[in-house]
Amino acid sequence: MRRSRIAGTGSALPARRVTNAELAERVDTTHEWIVERTGIEARHIAGDGETTATLATEASQKALAAAGLEADQIGLIVLATATPDQTFPASATRVQAMLGINDCIAFDVQAVCTGFLYALSVADNMVKGGMADHALVIGSETFSRILDWEDRATCVLFGDGAGAVVLSAVEGENQGILATRLHADGRQGDLLYVDGGVSTTGTVGKLRMQGREVFRHAVVNLANVLGETLAAAGLEIGEIDWVVPHQANKRILDATAKKLGLAPEKVIVTVDRHANTSAASVPLALDTAVRDGRIKAGDLLVLEAMGGGFTWGAAVVRY
Ligand code: COA
Repeated sequence: MRRSRIAGTGSALPARRVTNAELAERVDTTHEWIVERTGIEARHIAGDGETTATLATEASQKALAAAGLEADQIGLIVLATATPDQTFPASATRVQAMLGINDCIAFDVQAVCTGFLYALSVADNMVKGGMADHALVIGSETFSRILDWEDRATCVLFGDGAGAVVLSAVEGENQGILATRLHADGRQGDLLYVDGGVSTTGTVGKLRMQGREVFRHAVVNLANVLGETLAAAGLEIGEIDWVVPHQANKRILDATAKKLGLAPEKVIVTVDRHANTSAASVPLALDTAVRDGRIKAGDLLVLEAMGGGFTWGAAVVRY
């Protein structure tokens, strides 16, 4: 049976790191409030010349090196982002050009913070279906460009960055991506959205969120989709080595782990240093834990995310 497996991971962060104390000089907040309510201590913010596509390209180059592949072996690029460089062309095609790939399939996927799970599922199915032997699946965001820097309830929560994985076709059972499940419920769109857009205001807009409501839905949806995806893979939560969650808020991670009866030390946490990087957060956390030696070949992983839309999803992966 043809499957896809993660052959390499990579990530990239903007050079500039911004602490809570620096934000407290700008809006009415404190380091203590941000840490207590979110677990965030710092985030990286893109400077001039650092864009969704440049960060994605750097993460992709590292993932290609880890996989031992040349860029021209890639047949498919799926880039998850809600903050593309331009309205069109797709940022995936900019990444393709910067990687020096002359011809492959390349497009963007937009599912906000769940974007990487959507992109992974799409690419997995395309690799399984024979459309490509090697694919780059990327989450890359520059949310700093759509934040209202006067709104203390949102501007402290997000950061910029990119993560990428190379998916490669393999033959055999019980390896690579074992199951993915995706959901959306557009009735909840007004709880987390951007108040601009090409075909409405003609502007880019700023992020707006009812944080408490989002929090409430997140724990329920994430616990449900985790259970559903594990069942699809025929696994129990106790068999999982690592959960690599979307990094929105440490309290959401703790509450979800508690609801599932999951040991907290099995949850990869990077929200303290990256904040919420939307579609980039899962591959950034994955790459962090691969490179620091926690995640090893053969480990069973669950990746999960929830975001605007609402959208949510999970994947069970034999790394
Ligand atoms: N600094 C200090 N005070 C702040 C603040 C900040 N940065 N942001 C909000 N507050 C204040 C509010 O104004 C409010 O004050 P009030 O009671 O005087 O009106 C108080 O803190 C409580 O606000 P509330 O929004 O109810 O706090 P909360 O405990 O729900 O925490 C979030 C706020 C945003 C941290 C939390 O709701 C959250 O993380 N939600 C999920 C967000 C998320 O993950 N979104 C992305 C999903 S992809």
